[in-house]
Amino acid sequence: MSGPSTFVPKSALGRWFESRLPLGGLIHSSFIVYPTPRNLNYWWTFGGILSFMLVAQIVTGIVLAMHYTPHVDYAFLSVEHIMRDVNWGWLIRYAHANGASMFFVAVYIHMFRGLYYGSYKAPREILWILGVIIYLLMMATGFMGYVLPWGQMSFWGATVITNLFSAIPLVGDAITTWLWGGYSVDNPTLNRFFSLHFLLPFMIAGVVVLHVWALHVVGQNNPDGIEVKNTERDTLSFTPYATGKDSFALVCFMIFYAWFVFYTPNFLGHADNYIEANPLSTPAHIVPEWYYLPFYAILRAVPSKLGGVTLMFSAIVVLAFLPWLDTSRVRSAKYRPMYKVFFWAFVAACIGLGYLGAQPPEGGYVIAARLLTVYYFGFFIIIMPLLGLFETPKPLPASIADAVLGKGGLAAAQH
Ligand code: HEM
Repeated sequence: MSGPSTFVPKSALGRWFESRLPLGGLIHSSFIVYPTPRNLNYWWTFGGILSFMLVAQIVTGIVLAMHYTPHVDYAFLSVEHIMRDVNWGWLIRYAHANGASMFFVAVYIHMFRGLYYGSYKAPREILWILGVIIYLLMMATGFMGYVLPWGQMSFWGATVITNLFSAIPLVGDAITTWLWGGYSVDNPTLNRFFSLHFLLPFMIAGVVVLHVWALHVVGQNNPDGIEVKNTERDTLSFTPYATGKDSFALVCFMIFYAWFVFYTPNFLGHADNYIEANPLSTPAHIVPEWYYLPFYAILRAVPSKLGGVTLMFSAIVVLAFLPWLDTSRVRSAKYRPMYKVFFWAFVAACIGLGYLGAQPPEGGYVIAARLLTVYYFGFFIIIMPLLGLFETPKPLPASIADAVLGKGGLAAAQH
């Protein structure tokens, strides 16, 4: 699907290099002449935003690591040192901490976009599964990063989550001890979390390369969910059209991001994390970062620990099976009147679970979390397979060009 590589460098040195390593040709065919469907809307700009955020997190993270000390006696103090003494340290730290949240805002939009427009359906299954792997790696990275400042929430969050593994029959306790590197969350745990928190973003970057490669093999989906039939009429070149639109969206996103960093940098964090970790004092409510809350609600909706843990992991793993659970022959929700309703109910259920994840696990909250958990799984396992069989989709446009210009407009455009 990549455009033809007609790229010839202007200089003799460039031509010499290109004939030995055709990097220019690769960039030219992938990001300059690459044909993008002409009907893409702004929901398609989040892949680019995510790529930018990944780089931003790596760059700010590397600078933080230069001043951070991964030791239980110094971690908390070294973060305070970064905030107060290191030149622009407060900015780097706030950019990194809020950047993690922004990364998740972008990835959730990116994933719901895929869910709405059926981007996971054939031939994009591998592309989607690579996305699910990225998402899992992101969750692990975020979790380990939150432990590093060694505040109360860092310590107790790490204790709750690592303890989940002890629910595994027979080997659970051994696995937990192995993860901790001791008999509780302590210095070896902090040290290895730092090491892995540094490593995983580079692994994410590697999987992103595969993700974009897979995308360029099968081509982009689009809001109408129909394939490109005529490259000339249905597509536009990546540059300037997609690059221009992606850049504008990125600037808007950066304003949103900057607003958090400069006006309310602790809004998305928890006040208890400004208290140094104390293994002898458990906070009244242990709450994870907002982006884990729906899964935390699912975990606590089940009375048994093993059941809760299994269900929580299944909530993510089920995503990998979507390409086969969705039986509809039409991709985009634009042409699926019933799916559209269930989709928005699903979005509402996820937000509801997020809210419940932050509430104490008692009374009505647990009952509501159970109902929403049933809907969460029901959406994937029951609604998606059945809807494809019973729903009557609306007629699809004949081509992407038709969808954008309408029949009359297309005739006019051809003159
Ligand atoms: C670091 C995280 C990620 C990065 C940098 C990234 C990057 C990209 C880019 C650049 C695109 C093309 C532009 C676009 O469609 O927005 C894309 C498309 C796509 N991504 Fe991701 N992605 C990430 C995570 C994910 C995740 C977690 C999923 C799903 C679980 C996912 C699923 C998809 C799908 C299905 C497409 C094709 C969309 C279409 O053409 O309709 N991605 N991604």
